Amino acid sequence: MGKKQQMKYKTLLLSSNPEKYVSFQISDQTPFEITMDFEVAWRLINRNLHSYANIVLDAKSFPAEVIKDFVSSLRKEIACVYPIVTIIAPNSAEKEFMSCGADKVVENFSRFDLSLPVSMCDLEKLSPMAFIEFLIQTIKLKDKMLFDHLINVKTYTTVLAKLCLERGLITDKELEFLSIASFFHDIGKLFIPDAVIRKPGKLTNEEFDIIKMHTLHGASLFEKILRYEPKNQLVYTSFFVAKYHHEKFDGSGYPCKLKGEEIPLSARIVAIADVFDALTTDRYYRSAYSPSEAIDIMKSCANHFDPEIFNIFLNNIDYFIK
Ligand SMILES: [Fe+2]
Ligand SMILES: [Fe+2]
Repeated sequence: MGKKQQMKYKTLLLSSNPEKYVSFQISDQTPFEITMDFEVAWRLINRNLHSYANIVLDAKSFPAEVIKDFVSSLRKEIACVYPIVTIIAPNSAEKEFMSCGADKVVENFSRFDLSLPVSMCDLEKLSPMAFIEFLIQTIKLKDKMLFDHLINVKTYTTVLAKLCLERGLITDKELEFLSIASFFHDIGKLFIPDAVIRKPGKLTNEEFDIIKMHTLHGASLFEKILRYEPKNQLVYTSFFVAKYHHEKFDGSGYPCKLKGEEIPLSARIVAIADVFDALTTDRYYRSAYSPSEAIDIMKSCANHFDPEIFNIFLNNIDYFIK
């Protein structure tokens, strides 16, 4: 195993008086960038948000209202927690800047303030597994029925993917990624109002359109992670599965009406596991079908599924019946 590459976090300073801070740039501590332009700063942060640990705004350079607007947009739109935002301003202005989302107000800023924030050092040491566990527990607390569905779909997907692996359709690595990604296939449902998700009766067309959005909500979550980890295959698999698990092989699915092999293989596998679990468990609007009833229903709409994967599923149905 190679040594983990240490990320070099930068500080971005906004000041109309850059000469004053130019000596900071030769500091061997955190790399330092200076701009006098809010639009440039916004573009830099948007393009590479995760490379900044500190954003420093010199309030002696710009009107307080401009700084407050910038900081509150930053907090609301792209970076609610990190980076640390420091304002160089008199102590008397502390309250007004802190209330719009700044973390610190300092009268003077020195190169010693450029080191990585202590909290970020600790965050770097936190295992990714701790984050995943946090996410899983959040889903469990929010919606136990959704949580149970995610566990079942993960179990069925893993079995089906293993059968695909034995037939050379996917690799070991793809099996591993798919097993984890399938757990998060419906994560976008956390964004759907409970009144729609838990409605006991038949959904109206408008309500069904709202439910359909869960594929795009889930995809946009993973898209955000891809901004940090553009080459991460697990996140890519999770993105494809979240977005396309309701596409149907005959092109009648959603959200993109993809057809046949336009649908990523990962999503074609999860689609079968998902429908089987949905049919064999109680829903808010109906009770569970037996496994044999579920299989009959699935056979009656077999053109929704990848024929090769669906045959593997049917020929090995004993693996899926608890
Ligand atoms: Fe779904
Ligand atoms: Fe599902």
